[in-house]
Amino acid sequence: MNVAIDLADLVAIALFIYGLHELNSPATARRGNRFAMVGMAIALIGIVVRTGGIGWQAVAVGVALGAAIGIVAALKVKMTAMPQMVALYNGAGGGAAALISTVEHYVAHGGALTDVIAVSLVLSAIIGAVSFSGSIVAFLKLQEVMTGRPITYPGQQVVNALVLLAILGLAVWFIVTLGVLPSWGYVALLLGALLLGVLFVLPIGGADMPVVISLLNSFTGVAVAITGFEIGSNLLIICGALVGASGTILTVAMSRAMNRPLTNVLFGAFGATGGMEVASAGGPQQVRSTSADDVAVMLAYAAKVIFVPGYGMAVAQAQHSVKALADQLEKRGVKVLYAIHPVAGRMPGHMNVLLAEANVPYNQLLDMDDANPEFPTADVALVIGANDVTNPAARNVASSPIYGMPILDVDKASNVVVLKRSMRSGFAGIENPLYEMPNCSMLFGDAKASIDELTAAVKAL
Ligand code: TAP
Repeated sequence: MNVAIDLADLVAIALFIYGLHELNSPATARRGNRFAMVGMAIALIGIVVRTGGIGWQAVAVGVALGAAIGIVAALKVKMTAMPQMVALYNGAGGGAAALISTVEHYVAHGGALTDVIAVSLVLSAIIGAVSFSGSIVAFLKLQEVMTGRPITYPGQQVVNALVLLAILGLAVWFIVTLGVLPSWGYVALLLGALLLGVLFVLPIGGADMPVVISLLNSFTGVAVAITGFEIGSNLLIICGALVGASGTILTVAMSRAMNRPLTNVLFGAFGATGGMEVASAGGPQQVRSTSADDVAVMLAYAAKVIFVPGYGMAVAQAQHSVKALADQLEKRGVKVLYAIHPVAGRMPGHMNVLLAEANVPYNQLLDMDDANPEFPTADVALVIGANDVTNPAARNVASSPIYGMPILDVDKASNVVVLKRSMRSGFAGIENPLYEMPNCSMLFGDAKASIDELTAAVKAL
Protein backbone atom coordinates (compact mmCIF):
# COMPACT_ATOMS: atom_id res chain seq x y z
CA MET A 1 0.00 0.00 0.00
CA ASN A 2 2.79 2.43 0.93
CA VAL A 3 4.44 1.98 -2.45
CA ALA A 4 1.13 2.71 -4.17
CA ILE A 5 0.70 5.91 -2.15
CA ASP A 6 4.27 6.99 -2.87
CA LEU A 7 3.63 6.41 -6.55
CA ALA A 8 0.42 8.43 -6.36
CA ASP A 9 2.43 11.26 -4.71
CA LEU A 10 4.93 11.09 -7.56
CA VAL A 11 2.18 11.34 -10.18
CA ALA A 12 0.65 14.30 -8.29
CA ILE A 13 4.04 16.04 -8.15
CA ALA A 14 4.60 15.50 -11.89
CA LEU A 15 1.15 16.93 -12.63
CA PHE A 16 1.84 20.00 -10.45
CA ILE A 17 5.13 20.67 -12.24
CA TYR A 18 3.59 20.18 -15.67
CA GLY A 19 0.61 22.36 -14.66
CA LEU A 20 2.97 25.14 -13.55
CA HIS A 21 4.84 24.89 -16.82
CA GLU A 22 1.59 25.28 -18.77
CA LEU A 23 0.85 28.50 -16.86
CA ASN A 24 3.71 30.05 -18.85
CA SER A 25 1.32 31.10 -21.62
CA PRO A 26 -2.29 32.30 -21.54
CA ALA A 27 -2.96 29.85 -24.38
CA THR A 28 -2.18 26.83 -22.19
CA ALA A 29 -2.93 28.22 -18.72
CA ARG A 30 -6.42 26.70 -18.43
CA ARG A 31 -5.09 23.28 -19.36
CA GLY A 32 -2.28 23.72 -16.83
CA ASN A 33 -4.82 24.47 -14.12
CA ARG A 34 -6.72 21.29 -14.98
CA PHE A 35 -3.57 19.18 -14.73
CA ALA A 36 -2.79 20.71 -11.34
CA MET A 37 -6.39 20.05 -10.21
CA VAL A 38 -6.09 16.37 -11.10
CA GLY A 39 -2.73 16.29 -9.28
CA MET A 40 -4.35 17.81 -6.18
CA ALA A 41 -7.20 15.28 -6.30
CA ILE A 42 -4.69 12.40 -6.44
CA ALA A 43 -2.67 13.93 -3.59
CA LEU A 44 -5.80 14.32 -1.44
CA ILE A 45 -6.90 10.74 -2.04
CA GLY A 46 -3.39 9.65 -1.00
CA ILE A 47 -3.73 11.66 2.23
CA VAL A 48 -7.17 10.23 2.98
CA VAL A 49 -5.80 6.68 2.52
CA ARG A 50 -2.69 7.39 4.61
CA THR A 51 -4.46 8.88 7.63
CA GLY A 52 -1.75 8.29 10.22
CA GLY A 53 -3.95 7.36 13.16
CA ILE A 54 -6.60 10.13 13.10
CA GLY A 55 -8.98 8.19 10.87
CA TRP A 56 -9.89 8.84 7.26
CA GLN A 57 -13.24 10.34 8.29
CA ALA A 58 -11.56 13.31 9.98
CA VAL A 59 -9.32 13.91 6.97
CA ALA A 60 -12.28 13.59 4.58
CA VAL A 61 -14.26 16.16 6.61
CA GLY A 62 -11.27 18.54 6.42
CA VAL A 63 -10.95 18.03 2.66
CA ALA A 64 -14.70 18.53 2.10
CA LEU A 65 -14.74 21.68 4.24
CA GLY A 66 -11.71 23.14 2.47
CA ALA A 67 -13.12 22.27 -0.95
CA ALA A 68 -16.49 23.87 -0.11
CA ILE A 69 -14.80 27.10 1.03
CA GLY A 70 -12.58 27.05 -2.07
CA ILE A 71 -15.48 26.56 -4.49
CA VAL A 72 -17.63 29.30 -2.91
CA ALA A 73 -14.67 31.71 -2.82
CA ALA A 74 -13.71 31.00 -6.44
CA LEU A 75 -17.27 31.62 -7.61
CA LYS A 76 -18.04 34.66 -5.45
CA VAL A 77 -14.79 36.59 -5.13
CA LYS A 78 -14.43 39.30 -7.77
CA MET A 79 -11.32 39.44 -9.96
CA THR A 80 -10.45 42.77 -8.34
CA ALA A 81 -10.38 41.10 -4.90
CA MET A 82 -7.99 38.33 -6.00
CA PRO A 83 -4.95 39.74 -4.17
CA GLN A 84 -6.85 39.61 -0.84
CA MET A 85 -7.97 36.07 -1.58
CA VAL A 86 -4.41 35.02 -2.38
CA ALA A 87 -3.31 36.66 0.88
CA LEU A 88 -5.87 34.63 2.83
CA TYR A 89 -4.89 31.35 1.15
CA ASN A 90 -1.27 32.20 1.82
CA GLY A 91 -1.99 32.84 5.45
CA ALA A 92 -3.84 29.54 5.73
CA GLY A 93 -0.81 27.68 4.31
CA GLY A 94 1.61 29.40 6.69
CA GLY A 95 -0.71 28.87 9.65
CA ALA A 96 -1.06 25.18 8.75
CA ALA A 97 2.73 24.77 8.68
CA ALA A 98 3.04 26.43 12.11
CA LEU A 99 0.22 24.26 13.51
CA ILE A 100 1.79 21.04 12.20
CA SER A 101 5.07 22.01 13.86
CA THR A 102 3.25 22.68 17.13
CA VAL A 103 1.44 19.34 17.01
CA GLU A 104 4.68 17.57 16.13
CA HIS A 105 6.40 19.26 19.06
CA TYR A 106 3.75 18.63 21.71
CA VAL A 107 2.04 15.44 20.52
CA ALA A 108 3.96 13.42 18.00
CA HIS A 109 7.50 13.78 19.34
CA GLY A 110 6.89 14.71 22.96
CA GLY A 111 10.41 14.50 24.41
CA ALA A 112 13.78 15.19 22.84
CA LEU A 113 13.99 15.54 19.07
CA THR A 114 16.75 14.72 16.62
CA ASP A 115 18.76 17.77 15.61
CA VAL A 116 17.33 17.73 12.06
CA ILE A 117 13.75 17.61 13.34
CA ALA A 118 14.45 20.31 15.95
CA VAL A 119 15.84 22.68 13.32
CA SER A 120 13.04 22.02 10.82
CA LEU A 121 10.36 22.25 13.47
CA VAL A 122 11.52 25.60 14.77
CA LEU A 123 12.05 27.03 11.27
CA SER A 124 8.65 26.01 9.91
CA ALA A 125 6.95 27.29 13.09
CA ILE A 126 8.63 30.70 12.79
CA ILE A 127 8.30 31.17 9.03
CA GLY A 128 4.75 29.76 8.98
CA ALA A 129 3.61 32.04 11.83
CA VAL A 130 5.20 35.13 10.24
CA SER A 131 3.48 34.29 6.96
CA PHE A 132 0.15 33.69 8.71
CA SER A 133 -0.07 36.94 10.65
CA GLY A 134 1.59 38.98 7.88
CA SER A 135 -0.93 37.67 5.34
CA ILE A 136 -3.85 38.51 7.64
CA VAL A 137 -2.61 42.11 7.94
CA ALA A 138 -2.15 42.21 4.14
CA PHE A 139 -5.72 40.96 3.72
CA LEU A 140 -7.09 43.59 6.14
CA LYS A 141 -5.19 46.34 4.29
CA LEU A 142 -6.34 45.27 0.83
CA GLN A 143 -9.91 44.73 1.98
CA GLU A 144 -9.74 48.27 3.42
CA VAL A 145 -10.72 47.02 6.87
CA MET A 146 -7.68 48.98 8.00
CA THR A 147 -5.75 51.73 6.23
CA GLY A 148 -3.89 50.58 3.13
CA ARG A 149 -1.21 53.22 3.66
CA PRO A 150 2.13 52.36 5.29
CA ILE A 151 1.96 52.61 9.10
CA THR A 152 5.25 53.94 10.38
CA TYR A 153 6.57 55.25 13.68
CA PRO A 154 9.98 56.38 14.97
CA GLY A 155 12.33 53.51 15.81
CA GLN A 156 10.21 51.00 13.85
CA GLN A 157 13.17 49.15 12.34
CA VAL A 158 14.84 48.91 15.76
CA VAL A 159 11.67 47.42 17.32
CA ASN A 160 11.41 44.92 14.44
CA ALA A 161 15.08 44.01 14.79
CA LEU A 162 14.67 43.46 18.57
CA VAL A 163 11.65 41.18 18.06
CA LEU A 164 13.60 39.23 15.42
CA LEU A 165 16.58 38.90 17.77
CA ALA A 166 14.35 37.62 20.58
CA ILE A 167 12.85 35.02 18.23
CA LEU A 168 16.29 33.93 17.06
CA GLY A 169 17.41 33.60 20.72
CA LEU A 170 14.42 31.38 21.53
CA ALA A 171 15.03 29.35 18.36
CA VAL A 172 18.65 28.70 19.32
CA TRP A 173 17.49 27.65 22.82
CA PHE A 174 14.98 25.26 21.24
CA ILE A 175 17.58 23.70 18.94
CA VAL A 176 20.33 23.41 21.56
CA THR A 177 17.97 21.65 24.00
CA LEU A 178 16.47 19.58 21.15
CA GLY A 179 13.04 20.88 22.06
CA VAL A 180 13.30 20.13 25.80
CA LEU A 181 12.58 23.63 27.11
CA PRO A 182 9.82 25.02 29.32
CA SER A 183 6.52 25.23 27.49
CA TRP A 184 6.50 29.04 27.68
CA GLY A 185 9.68 29.09 25.58
CA TYR A 186 7.92 27.56 22.56
CA VAL A 187 4.77 29.63 23.12
CA ALA A 188 6.87 32.83 23.30
CA LEU A 189 8.63 31.81 20.09
CA LEU A 190 5.32 31.31 18.29
CA LEU A 191 3.79 34.55 19.63
CA GLY A 192 6.99 36.44 18.76
CA ALA A 193 6.80 35.14 15.17
CA LEU A 194 3.13 36.13 14.92
CA LEU A 195 4.02 39.61 16.20
CA LEU A 196 6.89 39.89 13.72
CA GLY A 197 4.53 39.08 10.82
CA VAL A 198 2.27 41.97 11.86
CA LEU A 199 5.15 44.40 12.41
CA PHE A 200 6.74 43.38 9.10
CA VAL A 201 3.67 44.21 6.98
CA LEU A 202 2.46 47.34 8.84
CA PRO A 203 4.97 49.73 7.21
CA ILE A 204 4.25 48.36 3.72
CA GLY A 205 1.35 49.78 1.76
CA GLY A 206 -0.05 51.17 -1.46
CA ALA A 207 1.40 49.81 -4.67
CA ASP A 208 3.83 47.57 -2.77
CA MET A 209 1.16 45.26 -1.33
CA PRO A 210 1.11 42.75 -4.23
CA VAL A 211 4.88 42.39 -3.86
CA VAL A 212 4.67 41.66 -0.15
CA ILE A 213 1.89 39.13 -0.77
CA SER A 214 4.07 37.35 -3.27
CA LEU A 215 6.95 37.38 -0.77
CA LEU A 216 4.72 35.96 1.97
CA ASN A 217 3.63 33.34 -0.56
CA SER A 218 7.25 32.26 -0.94
CA PHE A 219 7.62 32.21 2.89
CA THR A 220 4.64 29.86 3.08
CA GLY A 221 6.21 27.63 0.43
CA VAL A 222 9.46 27.42 2.40
CA ALA A 223 7.60 26.73 5.69
CA VAL A 224 5.58 23.95 4.02
CA ALA A 225 8.69 22.39 2.45
CA ILE A 226 10.42 22.32 5.84
CA THR A 227 7.28 20.79 7.39
CA GLY A 228 7.67 18.02 4.80
CA PHE A 229 11.01 17.11 6.41
CA GLU A 230 9.37 16.99 9.85
CA ILE A 231 6.66 14.57 8.88
CA GLY A 232 8.53 12.74 6.10
CA SER A 233 6.31 13.88 3.22
CA ASN A 234 7.96 14.17 -0.20
CA LEU A 235 4.77 15.75 -1.49
CA LEU A 236 5.04 18.66 0.94
CA ILE A 237 8.77 19.07 0.37
CA ILE A 238 8.42 19.34 -3.39
CA CYS A 239 5.17 21.36 -3.48
CA GLY A 240 6.54 23.72 -0.82
CA ALA A 241 9.74 24.15 -2.84
CA LEU A 242 7.70 24.90 -5.98
CA VAL A 243 5.64 27.55 -4.17
CA GLY A 244 8.74 28.98 -2.49
CA ALA A 245 10.65 29.22 -5.77
CA SER A 246 7.78 30.60 -7.86
CA GLY A 247 6.88 33.12 -5.14
CA THR A 248 10.48 34.30 -5.02
CA ILE A 249 10.74 34.60 -8.82
CA LEU A 250 7.47 36.56 -8.91
CA THR A 251 8.58 38.86 -6.08
CA VAL A 252 11.82 39.67 -7.90
CA ALA A 253 10.01 40.11 -11.26
CA MET A 254 7.47 42.53 -9.74
CA SER A 255 10.14 44.57 -7.96
CA ARG A 256 12.04 44.81 -11.26
CA ALA A 257 8.91 45.87 -13.16
CA MET A 258 8.42 48.67 -10.60
CA ASN A 259 12.16 49.39 -10.68
CA ARG A 260 12.32 49.17 -6.90
CA PRO A 261 14.88 47.09 -5.01
CA LEU A 262 13.11 44.56 -2.76
CA THR A 263 14.75 46.14 0.30
CA ASN A 264 13.12 49.43 -0.68
CA VAL A 265 9.72 47.74 -1.01
CA LEU A 266 10.08 46.11 2.41
CA PHE A 267 11.65 48.96 4.35
CA GLY A 268 10.95 52.06 2.20
CA ALA A 269 7.29 52.74 3.25
CA PHE A 270 5.96 53.57 -0.24
CA GLY A 271 3.83 56.72 -0.43
CA ALA A 272 4.36 57.58 3.24
CA THR A 273 6.40 60.61 2.28
CA GLY A 274 6.90 61.56 -1.38
CA GLY A 275 3.70 60.19 -2.87
CA MET A 276 1.15 62.41 -1.21
CA GLU A 277 3.28 65.53 -1.64
CA VAL A 278 3.46 64.94 -5.38
CA ALA A 279 -0.29 64.35 -5.48
CA SER A 280 -1.09 67.74 -4.02
CA ALA A 281 1.90 69.71 -5.24
CA GLY A 282 0.50 71.77 -8.10
CA GLY A 283 -3.17 72.26 -7.16
CA PRO A 284 -5.95 70.91 -9.40
CA GLN A 285 -4.76 69.67 -12.79
CA GLN A 286 -5.86 71.51 -15.94
CA VAL A 287 -7.19 68.83 -18.26
CA ARG A 288 -9.27 68.67 -21.42
CA SER A 289 -12.46 66.68 -21.29
CA THR A 290 -13.81 65.11 -24.49
CA SER A 291 -16.96 63.32 -25.67
CA ALA A 292 -17.61 59.79 -26.93
CA ASP A 293 -18.62 61.13 -30.36
CA ASP A 294 -15.34 63.01 -30.82
CA VAL A 295 -13.27 60.02 -29.70
CA ALA A 296 -15.26 57.69 -31.96
CA VAL A 297 -14.34 59.82 -35.01
CA MET A 298 -10.68 59.83 -33.93
CA LEU A 299 -10.71 56.03 -33.56
CA ALA A 300 -12.70 55.22 -36.68
CA TYR A 301 -10.37 57.19 -38.99
CA ALA A 302 -7.14 56.03 -37.36
CA ALA A 303 -4.68 53.63 -38.97
CA LYS A 304 -3.35 52.23 -35.69
CA VAL A 305 -4.96 52.26 -32.23
CA ILE A 306 -3.32 50.88 -29.12
CA PHE A 307 -5.55 49.92 -26.18
CA VAL A 308 -3.86 50.29 -22.80
CA PRO A 309 -5.85 48.44 -20.16
CA GLY A 310 -5.33 48.90 -16.42
CA TYR A 311 -6.96 48.24 -13.09
CA GLY A 312 -10.03 50.33 -14.05
CA MET A 313 -10.86 47.92 -16.88
CA ALA A 314 -10.97 45.12 -14.30
CA VAL A 315 -13.17 47.19 -11.95
CA ALA A 316 -15.58 48.05 -14.76
CA GLN A 317 -15.43 44.47 -16.14
CA ALA A 318 -15.09 46.15 -19.53
CA GLN A 319 -13.06 43.43 -21.28
CA HIS A 320 -15.94 42.13 -23.43
CA SER A 321 -16.92 45.67 -24.42
CA VAL A 322 -13.30 46.39 -25.30
CA LYS A 323 -13.24 43.36 -27.61
CA ALA A 324 -16.50 44.51 -29.23
CA LEU A 325 -15.00 47.98 -29.89
CA ALA A 326 -11.85 46.38 -31.32
CA ASP A 327 -14.01 44.25 -33.65
CA GLN A 328 -15.83 47.36 -34.89
CA LEU A 329 -12.55 49.18 -35.55
CA GLU A 330 -10.98 46.20 -37.28
CA LYS A 331 -14.02 45.96 -39.55
CA ARG A 332 -13.11 49.46 -40.70
CA GLY A 333 -9.50 48.42 -41.35
CA VAL A 334 -7.99 49.95 -38.18
CA LYS A 335 -5.02 48.02 -36.75
CA VAL A 336 -5.72 47.33 -33.05
CA LEU A 337 -3.04 46.35 -30.54
CA TYR A 338 -3.08 45.97 -26.75
CA ALA A 339 -0.15 47.18 -24.64
CA ILE A 340 0.23 45.22 -21.41
CA HIS A 341 2.36 46.56 -18.57
CA PRO A 342 3.78 43.82 -16.31
CA VAL A 343 2.18 45.36 -13.19
CA ALA A 344 -1.03 46.71 -14.75
CA GLY A 345 -3.97 45.77 -12.54
CA ARG A 346 -3.47 44.19 -9.16
CA MET A 347 -1.78 40.90 -9.87
CA PRO A 348 0.59 39.44 -12.42
CA GLY A 349 -1.14 38.60 -15.68
CA HIS A 350 -4.35 40.38 -14.55
CA MET A 351 -4.95 42.05 -17.93
CA ASN A 352 -3.99 38.97 -19.94
CA VAL A 353 -6.50 36.85 -18.01
CA LEU A 354 -9.34 39.34 -18.55
CA LEU A 355 -8.61 39.86 -22.25
CA ALA A 356 -8.23 36.10 -22.80
CA GLU A 357 -11.68 35.71 -21.20
CA ALA A 358 -13.01 38.08 -23.89
CA ASN A 359 -11.25 36.04 -26.63
CA VAL A 360 -8.82 38.77 -27.63
CA PRO A 361 -6.23 37.07 -29.89
CA TYR A 362 -2.96 36.53 -27.99
CA ASN A 363 -0.88 37.89 -30.88
CA GLN A 364 -2.47 41.34 -30.39
CA LEU A 365 -1.23 41.51 -26.77
CA LEU A 366 2.15 43.23 -26.64
CA ASP A 367 4.43 43.20 -23.61
CA MET A 368 5.83 46.56 -22.57
CA ASP A 369 9.10 46.13 -24.45
CA ASP A 370 7.30 45.29 -27.69
CA ALA A 371 4.55 47.88 -27.18
CA ASN A 372 6.68 50.95 -26.51
CA PRO A 373 8.25 51.16 -30.00
CA GLU A 374 4.68 51.07 -31.43
CA PHE A 375 3.40 54.24 -29.68
CA PRO A 376 5.24 56.85 -31.81
CA THR A 377 3.48 55.50 -34.93
CA ALA A 378 0.07 55.06 -33.26
CA ASP A 379 -2.72 57.52 -34.02
CA VAL A 380 -4.51 56.91 -30.73
CA ALA A 381 -3.51 55.38 -27.40
CA LEU A 382 -6.78 54.55 -25.66
CA VAL A 383 -6.01 54.26 -21.94
CA ILE A 384 -8.73 52.16 -20.33
CA GLY A 385 -8.61 52.58 -16.55
CA ALA A 386 -4.80 52.55 -16.43
CA ASN A 387 -3.02 55.28 -14.52
CA ASP A 388 0.31 54.63 -12.75
CA VAL A 389 1.64 52.43 -15.57
CA THR A 390 1.30 55.38 -17.98
CA ASN A 391 2.68 58.07 -15.66
CA PRO A 392 5.53 59.99 -17.36
CA ALA A 393 6.66 61.23 -13.91
CA ALA A 394 8.32 57.82 -13.65
CA ARG A 395 10.63 58.97 -16.48
CA ASN A 396 11.37 62.53 -15.54
CA VAL A 397 10.35 63.55 -11.98
CA ALA A 398 13.20 62.39 -9.75
CA SER A 399 11.17 63.11 -6.58
CA SER A 400 8.27 60.86 -7.66
CA PRO A 401 7.85 57.65 -5.66
CA ILE A 402 7.59 55.76 -8.96
CA TYR A 403 10.65 57.43 -10.49
CA GLY A 404 12.57 54.87 -12.55
CA MET A 405 9.63 52.49 -12.97
CA PRO A 406 9.44 51.47 -16.64
CA ILE A 407 6.13 52.75 -18.08
CA LEU A 408 4.09 52.46 -21.25
CA ASP A 409 5.04 55.48 -23.41
CA VAL A 410 1.43 56.36 -24.28
CA ASP A 411 2.29 60.07 -24.45
CA LYS A 412 4.35 59.36 -27.59
CA ALA A 413 1.19 58.49 -29.55
CA SER A 414 -0.32 61.29 -31.69
CA ASN A 415 -3.42 61.32 -29.45
CA VAL A 416 -4.03 59.93 -26.00
CA VAL A 417 -7.55 59.40 -24.67
CA VAL A 418 -7.86 58.42 -21.02
CA LEU A 419 -11.00 56.62 -19.83
CA LYS A 420 -11.52 57.03 -16.08
CA ARG A 421 -14.26 58.24 -13.79
CA SER A 422 -12.62 61.21 -12.09
CA MET A 423 -9.30 62.91 -11.44
CA ARG A 424 -8.58 60.54 -8.56
CA SER A 425 -5.11 59.03 -8.49
CA GLY A 426 -4.20 55.39 -9.15
CA PHE A 427 -2.85 52.81 -6.72
CA ALA A 428 0.38 54.72 -6.08
CA GLY A 429 -1.64 57.76 -4.89
CA ILE A 430 0.18 60.24 -7.12
CA GLU A 431 -0.79 62.82 -9.72
CA ASN A 432 -0.32 61.89 -13.40
CA PRO A 433 1.17 64.73 -15.52
CA LEU A 434 0.08 62.84 -18.67
CA TYR A 435 -3.42 64.28 -18.26
CA GLU A 436 -2.16 67.85 -18.77
CA MET A 437 -0.21 67.10 -21.95
CA PRO A 438 -1.45 68.83 -25.13
CA ASN A 439 -2.11 65.54 -26.98
CA CYS A 440 -4.16 64.08 -24.10
CA SER A 441 -7.90 64.31 -23.47
CA MET A 442 -10.09 62.68 -20.82
CA LEU A 443 -13.28 60.72 -21.43
CA PHE A 444 -14.82 60.65 -17.96
CA GLY A 445 -17.13 57.83 -16.91
CA ASP A 446 -17.19 54.15 -16.07
CA ALA A 447 -14.89 52.37 -18.55
CA LYS A 448 -17.53 49.85 -19.67
CA ALA A 449 -20.18 52.52 -20.23
CA SER A 450 -17.70 54.72 -22.12
CA ILE A 451 -16.48 51.87 -24.33
CA ASP A 452 -20.07 50.82 -25.12
CA GLU A 453 -20.84 54.42 -26.10
CA LEU A 454 -17.74 54.50 -28.30
CA THR A 455 -18.72 51.25 -30.03
CA ALA A 456 -22.22 52.57 -30.72
CA ALA A 457 -20.81 55.85 -32.03
CA VAL A 458 -18.27 54.11 -34.29
CA LYS A 459 -21.03 51.85 -35.63
CA ALA A 460 -23.15 54.89 -36.42
CA LEU A 461 -20.42 56.58 -38.50
P1 TAP B 1 -3.95 52.30 -11.23
O1 TAP B 1 -2.74 53.15 -11.30
O2 TAP B 1 -4.34 51.75 -9.93
O3 TAP B 1 -5.14 53.16 -11.84
C1 TAP B 1 -6.38 52.61 -12.09
C2 TAP B 1 -7.29 53.73 -12.56
O4 TAP B 1 -8.51 53.13 -12.96
C3 TAP B 1 -7.61 54.74 -11.49
O5 TAP B 1 -6.93 55.94 -11.72
C4 TAP B 1 -9.15 54.88 -11.53
O6 TAP B 1 -9.49 56.25 -11.72
C5 TAP B 1 -9.52 54.08 -12.76
N1 TAP B 1 -10.79 53.34 -12.55
C6 TAP B 1 -11.18 52.63 -11.48
N2 TAP B 1 -12.38 52.11 -11.68
C7 TAP B 1 -12.78 52.49 -12.91
C8 TAP B 1 -13.94 52.29 -13.69
N3 TAP B 1 -14.98 51.56 -13.25
N4 TAP B 1 -14.00 52.84 -14.91
C9 TAP B 1 -12.98 53.60 -15.39
N5 TAP B 1 -11.85 53.83 -14.70
C10 TAP B 1 -11.76 53.29 -13.47
O7 TAP B 1 -3.85 51.05 -12.23
P2 TAP B 1 -2.71 50.60 -13.21
O8 TAP B 1 -2.32 51.70 -14.13
O9 TAP B 1 -3.20 49.32 -13.78
O10 TAP B 1 -1.47 50.37 -12.28
C11 TAP B 1 -1.36 49.28 -11.36
C12 TAP B 1 -0.80 49.75 -10.05
O11 TAP B 1 -0.73 48.63 -9.16
C13 TAP B 1 0.60 50.30 -10.15
O12 TAP B 1 0.79 51.30 -9.18
C14 TAP B 1 1.44 49.09 -9.84
O13 TAP B 1 2.75 49.41 -9.40
C15 TAP B 1 0.62 48.47 -8.73
N6 TAP B 1 1.05 47.09 -8.57
C16 TAP B 1 0.54 46.15 -9.39
C17 TAP B 1 1.05 44.89 -9.30
C18 TAP B 1 0.58 43.87 -10.26
S1 TAP B 1 1.32 42.46 -10.21
N7 TAP B 1 -0.34 44.11 -11.13
C19 TAP B 1 2.02 44.56 -8.36
C20 TAP B 1 2.49 45.56 -7.53
C21 TAP B 1 1.98 46.83 -7.64
P3 TAP B 1 -10.94 56.78 -11.25
O14 TAP B 1 -11.07 56.42 -9.81
O15 TAP B 1 -10.89 58.25 -11.50
O16 TAP B 1 -11.94 56.09 -12.12
